[in-house]
Amino acid sequence: MCGIVGYLGPHQAAPLLLEGLARLEHRGYDSAGVAVLGGSGIRVAKRAGRVRDLSEDLPKRFTGKVGIGHTRWATHGPANDVNAHPHTDTKELVAVVHNGIIDNAAALRDELAEEGVDLVSDTDTEVLAHLIAGSGADTLEGKVAETLGRIHGTYGIAVLHVDFPDRIVVARNGSPLIIGVGDKEMYVASDLAALVRYTTTVAHLDDGEMATITSAGFSTYRLGASGLAATNRRAAHVDVDPASYDAGEYDSFMYKEILEQPAAAERVLRGRLDERFATGHLGGLNLDARELRAIRRIKVLGCGSAYYVGEMGATLIEELARIPADAEAASEFRYRNPIIEPDTLYVVVSQSGETVDTLLAVQEIQRKGGRVIGLVNVVGSAIAREVDGGIYLHAGPEVAVASTKALTNMFLGFAMLALQLGRVRDLSIADGRRLIAGLEALPHKIEQILATEERLEAIAARLAEAESLFFIGRVRGFPVAREGAQKFKEISYRHAEAYQTSELKHGPLALISPDVPTVAIVPDDELVERNVAALHEIAARGGPLVVVTHEDVALRGLPSDLAERIVVPRSERELDPILLTIPLQVLAYHAAKHLGHDIDKPRNLAKSVTVE
Ligand code: F6R
Repeated sequence: MCGIVGYLGPHQAAPLLLEGLARLEHRGYDSAGVAVLGGSGIRVAKRAGRVRDLSEDLPKRFTGKVGIGHTRWATHGPANDVNAHPHTDTKELVAVVHNGIIDNAAALRDELAEEGVDLVSDTDTEVLAHLIAGSGADTLEGKVAETLGRIHGTYGIAVLHVDFPDRIVVARNGSPLIIGVGDKEMYVASDLAALVRYTTTVAHLDDGEMATITSAGFSTYRLGASGLAATNRRAAHVDVDPASYDAGEYDSFMYKEILEQPAAAERVLRGRLDERFATGHLGGLNLDARELRAIRRIKVLGCGSAYYVGEMGATLIEELARIPADAEAASEFRYRNPIIEPDTLYVVVSQSGETVDTLLAVQEIQRKGGRVIGLVNVVGSAIAREVDGGIYLHAGPEVAVASTKALTNMFLGFAMLALQLGRVRDLSIADGRRLIAGLEALPHKIEQILATEERLEAIAARLAEAESLFFIGRVRGFPVAREGAQKFKEISYRHAEAYQTSELKHGPLALISPDVPTVAIVPDDELVERNVAALHEIAARGGPLVVVTHEDVALRGLPSDLAERIVVPRSERELDPILLTIPLQVLAYHAAKHLGHDIDKPRNLAKSVTVE
């Protein structure tokens, strides 16, 4: 997704902006640009392609100690040099970078065209530059506020103006913006990743806030009908290790993050399991035992992989706490005018905490009086700040687009929540202890699975040759299959479709052939017999199988040339889904690597999706 950086200080801005943009590359983008403000006014360099290409093309004497930069992920108009940001007005008085979407851009473009303004790009952003330049307000803050008053939509913006060379003005509505305070220098970014090398003292803007950044510091305001009211936001230190934003010795962030899972899993569990009372100890929920007992239903909301882990979580909650629970795609939720019930607990799940579909679901629930808690990885993110309580996932920064360690920790977060909900109902102390022991053993079991990488790599190379694959599972195994297919398709670009094993014979069996492999999730649980029967139906049609299962599960004479086994360690049944998921991540990674794809930058995808 689009990325923003800004710099103001004693050094030349361009190299710092390019460095910051390079740090945002993993978010996904198709073009990049920078603007600096120096003695000769605003200078802009931008182009389709990589930040590296932009650096190589940068004109000589591209000087200025104030600047803004952008990586674009095309929404309005194709990825080309002209549509790349920053955008300027005709006289180049103003330069703007923008994340988000302006919904009334078409109408504003028409108005500007009627006034004789020559719009050169296809973008929504360009209107901002013309409107700010044309504003009659005396200050840059006034010009920006007046312009934002005319637009509908989402934005994170950073603005330069030749008449106000001592400042950058930024504003946020639905798209993250962070101000970084350095040593006599100031930064702006849409993601902490761009800042951590320079500073970890930051301030997050809220939706509806604007800020002025000068060499003396920054001031924040709330945008309102009656003008700008100071919000006096302060910067605070964030506890983050800059090294976690480097892939180091690894070929990709995804690989590094897959291997980090045992340590990340230990972190999310630490201090949150109460052995004495055999329950979870999740203080951040802000719910006491009486309130937990009053919950009659749980609704989990998330997008993409977070939604699939949400399905695993809902199943866990039903099993352990016997509370009706289900998961739904947050992106669909608010459009069906959902009934918000006072005794339902809404649980949103998000790695980034900035996914706009999930954030809007939170706002819809809160507007209608519902209580929402969040399972969120990024501390201080928009969702983390808006929910009524929650669980931080402590996975550490996740850089790769394909989520791995954060998802594992989401599952563990759900397990602790389910345990805590179960223990104030009728989950026995013995079962509570059994699950705590199971949870504590998980990091080591994840390690055991990762130690089988060589074998997984060989299987992945074979799967990568297929144009199309099925991933199948039932009940606890079905969200595992969905997540497995998602991971496989997003980085290998193979068509991978998830199905309930039980539904196969109701249609998709027609597609089974020697060219269409099936990855089957077959834990040793109540459904193992039925699952194995389905495998025979696939094998009878010549369909190759990869069976993700437990030791000693009898595959009852499946031909060994058709069925390969991936064995995961046994755990408590309720916790099986996460161990069954780990090998699927490794398969996806190696399949993509085998096909020579850029693993951390899958085509068309972005790390955090801040547009609807
Ligand atoms: C897939 C993936 C995405 C995200 C989804 C939600 O590997 O990473 O499907 O899970 O975009 O993102 P967050 O969790 O940041 O809300």
